[in-house]
Amino acid sequence: ADAPIPLRVEAATPGAKIDRHIFGQFAEHLGTGIYGGVWVGKDSTIPNVRGIRKDVVEALRAIKVPNVRWPGGCFADEYHWRHGIGPAEARRKTINSNWGGAVEPNTFGTDEFMDFVDQIGSEAYVSVNVGSGTVQEAAEWVEYMTADPATTAGKERAANGHPAPYKVKFLGLGNESWSCGGAMRPEYYADEMKRYARFVRNYNPKQTGAEAMQRIAVGPNQADPAYTEAVMAAYKSHDWAWSLEGLSLHSYTTGGWPPSYSSTKFDETAYAKLLKETLGMDDLITKHSAIMDKYDPEKKVTLAVDEWGVWLAPLEGTNPGFLVQQNSLRDAIVAALNLNIFARHADRVRITNIAQMVNVLQAMILTDKDKMVLTPTYHVYKMYLPFQDATFVPVSLDKGVYTQGDITLPRVDAIAARDTQGKLWLAVTNLDPVRAAKISANVAGAKSASAKGQILTAARVDSINTFEAPGVVVPKPYMAKAGAKGLDLDIPAKSIVVVQLEP
Ligand code: AHR
Repeated sequence: ADAPIPLRVEAATPGAKIDRHIFGQFAEHLGTGIYGGVWVGKDSTIPNVRGIRKDVVEALRAIKVPNVRWPGGCFADEYHWRHGIGPAEARRKTINSNWGGAVEPNTFGTDEFMDFVDQIGSEAYVSVNVGSGTVQEAAEWVEYMTADPATTAGKERAANGHPAPYKVKFLGLGNESWSCGGAMRPEYYADEMKRYARFVRNYNPKQTGAEAMQRIAVGPNQADPAYTEAVMAAYKSHDWAWSLEGLSLHSYTTGGWPPSYSSTKFDETAYAKLLKETLGMDDLITKHSAIMDKYDPEKKVTLAVDEWGVWLAPLEGTNPGFLVQQNSLRDAIVAALNLNIFARHADRVRITNIAQMVNVLQAMILTDKDKMVLTPTYHVYKMYLPFQDATFVPVSLDKGVYTQGDITLPRVDAIAARDTQGKLWLAVTNLDPVRAAKISANVAGAKSASAKGQILTAARVDSINTFEAPGVVVPKPYMAKAGAKGLDLDIPAKSIVVVQLEP
């Protein structure tokens, strides 16, 4: 049997706060991500509160979703907010030209989104239309959401049922302006972006200080540094009139373009290739952070990884424009590895949004009419709850090697953190689909008595949850016992373990 891998939790040298917003979600008007997945309408037989499905709200409340990015994605740069307010019967029906040519009924608009965010106990990340809209349209939208009820904009909001100003925590200034958002040269975008950053104002009197709205500019596509340089150079010359609080990074794990990897049936080579690719997130963040450091050494601007996740081949029989895929134990491992990377970069990465929340790409939840199932990725988000707003604690360990053909990967990965109640948590992922790992953990040299937690694993890396069998990949109780040199953790092959350490 393999010798135990020593792991030391360096509790005396804590790092940055792991902002809860790194556990954010993304919900675009795309396929059934909103219509069917979140919004069923007030007259639906599916149980709902003001048109928003109850089962989905309950599931999302349980993972304490910190923020939801909406309405896109590429959709955001063609979205005109006025189509989505006021009496439902009068709303304009448009075509969703980005995603499958579906009819967009606009029945889920600003007030419904804010109601949804409120129902799940989350915060709003609204992306304004820079590509095909105007500064005036965006300014009036945020005015509608945040203005005093005594103003004309506030009165219109009140007439639509919400007198009190909404809170817009994050404001996206366009989306992928290097591509679907208008194919703009970086310098051109930077100039445009400054006008939005200057004139799109938040009037909510409660949003001051730490609560102030954070503006997130479009940033890099994967490794391309052009937008990072141009936008951060613009940031460096900001003054009293405008500023920025975030720079977006988009990076999907695809296995090549267009995505052809199956979400249900794959071999160990495909598994290892995707994990290798996903671990590249660390290099990407390191690279863009280094550029940001040149212009912003104090790390005031967050790197917002506001689109990430596995993007796989569309499920057979589905509209390819709806980006429907299943979600396996492999995807849960992808999620854990990325969350670990974000936690290690917590000083710069303070918000991320996995794509996408319901029924689209690496979803938390899949629905079909009245049926709903929680994915393995959902369970990772639930197991990682103690890490929301926790303080990062470094761990030292020899990660070992897992080899598949000519692909080499670390065998195990781990992070630790002290939660807001002062308790210490450890998360360990075993990437190896065959070999279990033994870990001997201690907290800064002291012996731990025992540890309780949860484990997520399954018979195969391509194990999935379905409407008929929702309990194939679900967390189970986990227990680690005191050993000769520390806490002995048996980490089965292809598993994620989260435990609370008792020093
Ligand atoms: O998440 C799907 C799409 O991926 C988004 O609309 C776009 O921003 C990205 O290219």
